[in-house]
Amino acid sequence: MQQPSLFAESEIQLKNKFPSTRYQGSKAKFADWIWHEISHISFQTVLDAFGGTGSVAYKLKDNGKAVTYNDILPFNSIIGKAIIENESVLLSESDINLILEERKNIEYPTFIADNFKDIYYTDDENHWLDIVRYNISTIKNEYKRAIAWFALFQSCIIKRPYNLFHRKNLYVRLMDVKRSFGNKKTWDTPFETHFRNFVHEANNAVFNNGVECHSVNTDALNVDSKFDLVYIDTPYINDKGIGVDYADFYHFLNGLVYYDNWANLIDFESKHHRLKRQYNIWSDKDNIINGFVQLIEHFENSILVFSYRSNGIPSIENIVDILIKHNRHNELRYSRDIKYALSDTKSKEVLIISYPQ
Ligand SMILES: C[S@@+](CC[C@H](N)C(=O)[O-])C[C@H]1O[C@@H](n2cnc3c(N)ncnc32)[C@H](O)[C@@H]1O
Repeated sequence: MQQPSLFAESEIQLKNKFPSTRYQGSKAKFADWIWHEISHISFQTVLDAFGGTGSVAYKLKDNGKAVTYNDILPFNSIIGKAIIENESVLLSESDINLILEERKNIEYPTFIADNFKDIYYTDDENHWLDIVRYNISTIKNEYKRAIAWFALFQSCIIKRPYNLFHRKNLYVRLMDVKRSFGNKKTWDTPFETHFRNFVHEANNAVFNNGVECHSVNTDALNVDSKFDLVYIDTPYINDKGIGVDYADFYHFLNGLVYYDNWANLIDFESKHHRLKRQYNIWSDKDNIINGFVQLIEHFENSILVFSYRSNGIPSIENIVDILIKHNRHNELRYSRDIKYALSDTKSKEVLIISYPQ
């Protein structure tokens, strides 16, 4: 007999609470401000073209908009399914127990244990990941599966030094030294504990805003250009020309999604077994300006809202110049100072709101 769910549905569905996430360039801290700056604009359909954690898409969903979330990384688009597209499906306590159970009659694949020894997690943790990833892949309902993926991705991120997969640095976590950064207790908390917490957070985020929302997974330039408003938060290149390569920073999570084909996608020359690189205009400082031109032309009939930083490449002036050349009316808004990181003292968060004329 199925165990009764420990979550009372009504209690959960009232919460509408965006989960805690750790992600480079997340706008979670700015989402209220962004909404404050655009709430007067008349629009119903909206695309979050570079969705990431979904923090802005979620704020728009919370305000009754018909939201389409997009991100080029498959793991992110599953997060979009779990908390943006999903209107009502939750993971119950018995679902969680099934996901976490290692069953005797199953011969689990061992790709992570075989290929990632000493890279990101301990042997026991790699074994746990192989089991749980497999169990998640057998869940039939796509939204339940998405919530389970969400919890697995967040658990993987929270246990990593710097919350990234950019280096083979398990040793940083295991060294018995006094640290000035990071949180060893969080790193060493069992996967299972994190996983259960993140399922609860995702359950608390699920709600129905009365209109259909969607999650898609493609290059922003391939999404239909039919939206009243498009929110654009591209990967950021700073004034030194250093950008954030999201595919590289989070390759392990995409590998989990492509588990059965992972061996063909890995660059085995790299010590940390990243995925083979693919060109992305948003991390090419010499060409990124053309990315903006293409976006502006692709979404020519939409109101465009860019999140940007005052010391980015290209400069705000460059972007506004292109917008003016495309015959658009533009307004700038500067946020009050919220620092991203200790190292980043100079840049301010900016919104460029651009209307077709
Ligand atoms: C600055 S982050 C967005 C952060 C997001 N607003 C949030 O609050 O979490 C940029 C995102 O763009 C995605 N991305 C990179 N290239 C892309 C492309 N060509 N099309 C769509 N998304 C892309 C990255 O995977 C990353 O999640």
